Amino acid sequence: MHDSAPLTESAATTDVPSLDVDAVRAQFPYLEREDDVVYLDSGASAQKPRAVLDAMYAFGGSHYANIHRGVHVLAREADAAFDAARETVAAFVGSTARETIFTGSVTQSINLVAHSWGRTNVGAGDEVVITHMEHHANLVPWQQLCIAQGATLRYLELDEQGRIRLEQLDEFLAGGRVKLVALAHVSNVLGTINPIAEVVRRAHDAGALVLVDGAQAVPQMPVDVAALDADFYGWTGHKLYGPTGIGVLHVRRELLAGMPPFLTGGDMIRIVDFQETSWADGIHRFEAGTPPIIEAVGLAAACDWVGAIGGPAAVHAHEQAITAYALEQLGAIEGIDVVGPRDAAGRGALTAFAMAGVHPHDVAEIIARDGVCVRAGQHCAEPLHRALGIPSTTRASFAAHTTRGEIDALVASIGRVQSIFG
Ligand SMILES: Cc1ncc(COP(=O)(O)O)c(C=O)c1O
Repeated sequence: MHDSAPLTESAATTDVPSLDVDAVRAQFPYLEREDDVVYLDSGASAQKPRAVLDAMYAFGGSHYANIHRGVHVLAREADAAFDAARETVAAFVGSTARETIFTGSVTQSINLVAHSWGRTNVGAGDEVVITHMEHHANLVPWQQLCIAQGATLRYLELDEQGRIRLEQLDEFLAGGRVKLVALAHVSNVLGTINPIAEVVRRAHDAGALVLVDGAQAVPQMPVDVAALDADFYGWTGHKLYGPTGIGVLHVRRELLAGMPPFLTGGDMIRIVDFQETSWADGIHRFEAGTPPIIEAVGLAAACDWVGAIGGPAAVHAHEQAITAYALEQLGAIEGIDVVGPRDAAGRGALTAFAMAGVHPHDVAEIIARDGVCVRAGQHCAEPLHRALGIPSTTRASFAAHTTRGEIDALVASIGRVQSIFG
């Protein structure tokens, strides 16, 4: 059932290294389960390859201590591993260690910017621009910031294929009040890949900054934060085959000094006196308390692992081929309506769909009986579903280990759903 059939022509004929999907699959312990699960929920959280689990086990077992406060042998080893992890994670997306903050998740990364930069720079009458496709993590913090500061939250609407219109962005920017444009790099429901470099160019020309939510993009495609020129770029470890409990925020170096701390406490200070405190420089003022140390080592191992299987470009080519196949197969089923761009080239590795006359929770529930794991609901994007005029969707999302055979399994299960509901 889960054969790794050849990729489509487009993936096979580019000069991008191709993935050896069988070799990739052999590295995932969850695929050794006897019940033959078909995991199509990587967009929610990715399964972990052995290399990541082993790295965390080895570090946590034999080299572990708290960091930046000890002089003994384990403390020195932990310091070195943590600092090396930051270098690896930064380099993976074309950033630098001194612009890379470890947080607990991309949700925390965005909250950090909203509280620190936002409360310092966004005031009454200012505008923050987001889009209708945002995950709540990149919506609620801006909504709350605007409420607190007396600013206005404006939404870029989407065309019928789920894409933003740059002309509308230009209209908003022309008003001269926009302080920040915050948008997803890849939508977690529509799959739309937003034209970030173009958005950044237009926003900067108008004096606005840009925050990118890269939660879905970093696991799926090559990302070069420096080339994109975004001011803030956040992502989350558990979607990149890494552990939960760690997120990343890249901040343009020139902005760091003007940003007050978000959380205060140990490790982020320079001098603490009875009545006042001064802050550590650069990224360190944003890492209060003990950071996710084992998780940082695990995330660095995940970056290295993606490199070792062929790199983000190879993963992207494979996932685009799988997405093209899924769009073709799902598109052929009567009563299935896939949301988002219709062409796999312009979208990320996921397909969310509505099924005529069947609630997505029933779809997911019946599909699950076949061992096929998908997600149903609003995927933390309630305003998007409202804008689309549909209550919720069922989402299948893909990864480096996904095969065409697994898409066939999904399609067969959908057939069973349809036969149950007549
Ligand atoms: C586009 C997008 N942004 C943000 C998040 C939130 O990620 P986390 O829960 O790791 O903070 C997700 C998770 O589904 C996502 O898909």
